Amino acid sequence: MNEKQRRDILKMYRPQQLFPAEPNLGAWYTEEEVKVATKAIRDSMDWRIGFGFIVDEILDFEQSFANYCGTEFAISLSTASVGLDLAMGSLDLEPGDEVICPAINFKASPLAVLGQRANLVFCEIDPRTFNCDPADLEQRITPKTRAIFPVHMNGLSAPMDDLLDIAECHPHPIHGPLKVIGDAARACGGGYKETKVGKKGWMNVFSFHTMKLMTTLGEGGMITTDDAELAKRLRGIRQWGNDSGTWGSSYKMTKVQAAVGSVQLRRLDAMIEQRVKRAHDRLQMLEGIPELTLTFEPPDCDHTFYLFTLLVPPKWGGEKRDRLCQMLREEYNVGTMVANPPVWEAQPYIHAQTAGQIETLPVSVETAKRLFCISLHPLMNEEENTYVAAAVWDAVERVRKI
Ligand SMILES: Cc1ncc(COP(=O)(O)O)c(C=O)c1O
Repeated sequence: MNEKQRRDILKMYRPQQLFPAEPNLGAWYTEEEVKVATKAIRDSMDWRIGFGFIVDEILDFEQSFANYCGTEFAISLSTASVGLDLAMGSLDLEPGDEVICPAINFKASPLAVLGQRANLVFCEIDPRTFNCDPADLEQRITPKTRAIFPVHMNGLSAPMDDLLDIAECHPHPIHGPLKVIGDAARACGGGYKETKVGKKGWMNVFSFHTMKLMTTLGEGGMITTDDAELAKRLRGIRQWGNDSGTWGSSYKMTKVQAAVGSVQLRRLDAMIEQRVKRAHDRLQMLEGIPELTLTFEPPDCDHTFYLFTLLVPPKWGGEKRDRLCQMLREEYNVGTMVANPPVWEAQPYIHAQTAGQIETLPVSVETAKRLFCISLHPLMNEEENTYVAAAVWDAVERVRKI
């Protein structure tokens, strides 16, 4: 993007409202979702039918989701956070057991570990992908380690084959190979080595929260797995135990959500394609800014660009990065966020449980000072996207002079 193009768009265009850093409607709805939602409500108005429990709409959605991910099973849930809790519950952890999570993370997975009273162990991330660094993770395995719990960060698959190899190489003395469980909340529809995110690992947990790549009316989640016993147990737990022989509660999604989910899933690839196109266009427009490290796309992955994440140089880490984000937000109406800071900074309970580990995680601490995410949405039009790129150029040039 040359200087004239930048000047022109900045002169011509100015958003009236802030482009949200993490758009509130991550996906978008069409008349088709409205139609199926209305139908599901109308069908439930017969007093002999009502909403029901695990009805056809839910089973259909689960089957389509499993087919999409290439797994045997998909179990729908009320949220991904519930799914992460159930994932950790499925390990039957004992006191002193350890689960390894990346340090740059959303708080839900670390909290799911702590919720089972297990020891939460952090590993470093790879600063190019923001996903966990397999070599560092391997060094943190002990005889107490039970599971590896990566997040598919910001829409990009974690290096699952590396993690699965490590899990095989370091079996737990009683339980055998470590379990690899993916937090796929931000990566629904992403690809990894000819598979979809959701296929590799013991199970993967998806979110359909309103900010995510596809949504089921505000909240929703899904677990995918090829393990029949696990699927039976999860189905039991989400509905008061049923015949699974296990404890249970109620973590179901509704019929209306599932009907909408099936439509969203059919549209998912097209929605991601549009998001990725905007991301690629923008990356091209940002090429040549010396200070910015642009998003890295590993050749064996299909990035969904759930978030559009860049890095400032080490000497801009912290204060200057924050100044740049603030300037973009306040002076250009371009929302920015840090996704994510080291997770102990986001949650005091996590901090209290893991404070001793912070000094052992310099890469994560330093990377977190440098990364930032810039508003991106598939419905952003070309002009808006060009404006964002021009704003970033302009703001970086101004911060350079500070
Ligand atoms: C990485 C990650 N994990 C888990 C969650 C929790 O998802 P949910 O809101 O569906 O519980 C989110 C989203 O908020 C997330 O970004």
